[in-house]
Amino acid sequence: MTAPRIVTLVGGISQNSLNRKLYLALKDLVGSKAEFIFADIASLPFFSKDLENDPPDSVVEYKDQIRWANGILFVTPEYNRSIPGVLKNAIDWGTRPYPDNLWENKPVATIGASTGNTGTFGAQNHLRQILSYLNMYVLNQPEFYMNGSKAFDEDDKLIDKKTRDHLIKMWDAFEVLIQSHTSTSKNQLPHDVENSTWVQH
Ligand code: FNR
Repeated sequence: MTAPRIVTLVGGISQNSLNRKLYLALKDLVGSKAEFIFADIASLPFFSKDLENDPPDSVVEYKDQIRWANGILFVTPEYNRSIPGVLKNAIDWGTRPYPDNLWENKPVATIGASTGNTGTFGAQNHLRQILSYLNMYVLNQPEFYMNGSKAFDEDDKLIDKKTRDHLIKMWDAFEVLIQSHTSTSKNQLPHDVENSTWVQH
């Protein structure tokens, strides 16, 4: 089984983002079983039709990363019961110029942490609606919602073993989904990641 190539979009762009910590915790648990690229969605301009046919380098590189991936991971905060605008903007860039939908037929998983007890259910619920529309293969179960307020220790490790175990369970199911859909995933671009500037953290 070849290691899946995962592009991760984290919707929290602040320095101490809980969702960034959650992503790093998952990456740590998965280890060398996958190649991870962290998409720098904060560097993307707001989508505009004026830019779509001659986009800036940040967009070109981001779109190459999506093509390269055979699995997409969304790690989303909840903003007012939905996803942050920065994440929606990144999703929209992957669908233009029409009819290029780079997300199509890609396996995708969603996880998230918030400071509320609904643990990003509202955000992920909205997100899954979008991903289905984009014709992605959405991992239905296990779902992963978390109140992240007290979830991490001073080294940003997940404190609770049950939470870590659940994250691994989600990953195992995602890996199976990826393996079963890789051959139908379009737009795969061979890319020498080791020698690229793509951020692998
Ligand atoms: C929030 N937060 C929040 N939390 C929640 O559980 N449900 C919600 O609807 C919202 N809404 C919301 C809106 C806005 C504009 C902000 C800034 C915050 C709190 C949110 O969960 C918390 O700030 C997380 O720490 C955000 O994730 P990151 O940035 O730490 O990854």
